[in-house]
Parts: sequence; C-alpha cells; structure tokens
Amino acid sequence: MSSLKSLVAGNWKMFGHQDSIAEIDRLAAMLKAAPPACEVLICPPSTLVSAFATQAQGTDIMIGAQDCHPKDQGPHTGDISAAMLADCGASHVIVGHSERRTDHGESDALVKAKAESVINAGMTAIICVGETEEQRGSGQADTIVQNQLAGSIPDSATPATLIISYEPIWAIGTGRTPTVAAIEHMHATIRSWLSDRFGEKASQIRLLYGGSVKPSNASALMAAKNVNGALVGGASLKATDLNGIIDAYRR
Ligand code: PGA
Repeated sequence: MSSLKSLVAGNWKMFGHQDSIAEIDRLAAMLKAAPPACEVLICPPSTLVSAFATQAQGTDIMIGAQDCHPKDQGPHTGDISAAMLADCGASHVIVGHSERRTDHGESDALVKAKAESVINAGMTAIICVGETEEQRGSGQADTIVQNQLAGSIPDSATPATLIISYEPIWAIGTGRTPTVAAIEHMHATIRSWLSDRFGEKASQIRLLYGGSVKPSNASALMAAKNVNGALVGGASLKATDLNGIIDAYRR
C-alpha cells in the first residue's frame, strides 16, 4: 500500500444543471457519516464550479474543473482561464482528457501549456494519458503513454501540483476495464518514467486510474499497486454511486 493519500475524483463532463447542487449536499453527508481514507474531488462543468465550490465549503469535498485556456486572459472568445477557475474556488483542473484531445485536437504541447497555467494559478493539474484500443493491440500502449508524459508535463510540476490519470481510451464509458495486472504494469511504467524525470519525488506523485470505475469494481482496481485513486466519469454523477466507489477507501 502506498503512503500517499489517494484521491477519488469525479469528472462530470458535460452533465449537470443548477439543481445538481443537491448531489454535493448528499455526498457531503455521506462523507461526514463515514469518513474515507481518501480525498474527494468533483469537477463539474465550468458553469457550476462557482456554485459547487460555495456549496462545498466546510465539507470534505474539493471542487475542480475539466479544462482551461493556457493563457491568463486575453481575446479568446468562449474560453476560460485557470486563474478564473481558481477565482471561482477550483483547486484542481483536469487537462488533456482524451475527449479534449480527440474532440478539440489538443496536442501534448497544448496540454503542457494548460497544466503550466493551472500550476501558476496555484492549483493542481490532473494530466490524463492513455492509449486507444488499436494502439494497445499493436503493442504500443507503453510508448504512447510515455510520449504523452514527456510532452504534457511542465517543468514546474511538483508532487503537490501534479496528478497523472491513466485512462485507456477504450475503457472510458464502455464498461470495460483492463485487468488489474495490466493496470499495475502501466502504473509501474508511469512511476518508473516519473522517477527518471523527478527522482525520488516521483514516489509522491499520485497516479489515478480512470475508465469505467464503478462501485462493483472499485475495490479491486483501487487495491492495484501504484494506483492512488480514481478518475470517475459516469458513476460520479450520483452521490450514491460515487460514495460506493469511495467505499474502497473505507475498508
Ligand atoms: P467513465 O469516464 O468513468 O465514464 O468511464 C472516465 C473519464 O472519462 O474520466
């Protein structure tokens, strides 16, 4: 078991309206009734960051965001900067999620610039990496992920400001997950890559697993070596489901 405090993070993607705020109250009550040995973060759409952050004050829930522009401010219609998200009460920002990399053609260089802006704004960057099914099938998964790490992590990152989330693209929203052995292999590969880059400090960087994590598989996945938490999509929208995943840190 790692000495790091694990993190269960919910990525709400493009779901949620003003009335979803009740989920924060529900989850806060569950965390209060049975405190887990992990941190809990919810990343709603940008429209809800401020309201969720206000609602989560005084609870054990942190609030984050799902993306940001790499610049602090400027003529970028429709974009939101890391500094603005920090201003709304966000403590973390997810960058380089595969849906951003695919839907918006985001490159490693852009992800790196975004992560840099998150850190400069005083928050923690959750950088997502992961291979497609085709890349896994052709034996390239390790290289793809190592290249994403090399291209996406800014030099200013420290264990306190950097979290890596391994999310095999074929496992996102599909109900399929890699075997525990495959996750352990990839997380060991990532840890070793981070050791080469950051030395001893690499052991303090949290490595999340993401992709179809749900209450029924969370205990097994979270017990895997070098897994320091989860990035949860679909199962993070309802407090009861996310709480069922957090249960992995109550035993
Ligand atoms: P999922 O999404 O849990 O719905 O598979 C994970 C993610 O994309 O972060």
